[in-house]
Amino acid sequence: MPQARYKQLVDRLADDIRQGRLKPGTALPTHRQLAARERISLATATRTYAELRNMGLVAGEVGRGTYVREPLPSSEEVGMHIASGDLADLTFNYPALPTQTELLRTALRQLASTGELESVLRYQPHGGRSHERAIVAEHLRSRGLSVAADSVLIVNGAIHGLATVAMSLLQPGDVVAVDALSYPGIKVVAEQCRLELVAIPAGRGGPDLEALQALCRNRKVRALYCMPTLHNPLGWVMSQAERDALIAVARRHGLLLLEDGVYAFLEAKAPPPLAALAPDITVYVSSLSKSVAAGLRFGFVSAPAAFVPKINRAIRATAWNTPSLVTSLCCGWLQDGTVARLEREKRRDAGARQAIAAKALAGLQTVRHPASYFVWLPMPGEVRSDAVAKRLREEGVLVSTAEPYAMGGHPPHAIRLALGSVTHAKLRQSLETVATTVFSLDY
Ligand SMILES: Cc1ncc(COP(=O)(O)O)c(C=O)c1O
Repeated sequence: MPQARYKQLVDRLADDIRQGRLKPGTALPTHRQLAARERISLATATRTYAELRNMGLVAGEVGRGTYVREPLPSSEEVGMHIASGDLADLTFNYPALPTQTELLRTALRQLASTGELESVLRYQPHGGRSHERAIVAEHLRSRGLSVAADSVLIVNGAIHGLATVAMSLLQPGDVVAVDALSYPGIKVVAEQCRLELVAIPAGRGGPDLEALQALCRNRKVRALYCMPTLHNPLGWVMSQAERDALIAVARRHGLLLLEDGVYAFLEAKAPPPLAALAPDITVYVSSLSKSVAAGLRFGFVSAPAAFVPKINRAIRATAWNTPSLVTSLCCGWLQDGTVARLEREKRRDAGARQAIAAKALAGLQTVRHPASYFVWLPMPGEVRSDAVAKRLREEGVLVSTAEPYAMGGHPPHAIRLALGSVTHAKLRQSLETVATTVFSLDY
């Protein structure tokens, strides 16, 4: 086939996908069918699909053929870069194991053949059906949390949990203490709920409690948002003594503790969560986004009984309920041990990825925990993190600077590397590119 006609075929299919004439999820003809339809060779049909795959427009799966991918949001739309084609996305973690697509397909088939489907069509209680709340309560026991089913609420992912908690338990203008470097989503929640975030500098293995005390003496602080186990982005795991000291400060100054446990499953040996140590003043928020899959949007909140009706109302206002298609699926996986198995596999996976990072980044000073899915890389000398991020982008590697994580003041020159979203081989190669780039700019 002449080059021009082959390119025309790629352009025509790409245009059909971009214009929505071929919808996401559409199964495309097999290579053989495409060859017959377009009167081209099988090799050219294969090359056509390879080109469309490189453009991020189609994906292929063994046994399912080639199909149209969901369009990738622009970086402006989501505030971060999503990898496409050859790009390696080290900006955020969506650690899915290769077997999970098949797991989902099997679970959907099972769901389709049970009586559950009827209920999927109806409104459900805002915080989830009582048997599902009991299943989540049982799961929380494996996190060291012993809670009653009726203090658990199911939400659309942890960010929805944080938003509904902030909407219902905090008032506009409230001061919320946060780590100086923290999860970027909390800034968005604070902005929407008109909360004032005040940054607490990092201490040795957690927030600097002296600084927190000083702030509480000067200002009326209503709450503290924190990640005691596997802090994002610094990876700390607060010791039992630090947790006790933090709770003492919170009690002395009447703080509500908002504990984020999204990454906690990765560190099996952590001390108990704050919600277990101080259940009367702590609201615990977590999800299956990192342990199972981010796209499912299955999260949960565990709160003191008096807060539950208020959070329920915020769930009603924002989502009514988490779709029961998702809750049925996830609760099935919680119950049959699939989640526990995936957690074990991801603990092993995170460890292996950290070992790759240790080797590839040798010679650079890093802040990281061996069980976590990320690395914080302060820039050496005068190296500017934005210059590194730009140069890496040109090399096909996407990384975050400190800016989204900085809760106040000047962001330090550092980059955060999310290890969980690319293959091990691509991770090794990308991290080597990171090291080479940083060294090349350090003169
Ligand atoms: C620390 C932390 N909390 C919460 C979330 C939000 O999780 P979800 O996808 O369940 O909304 C994230 C996502 O990256 C996170 O890193």
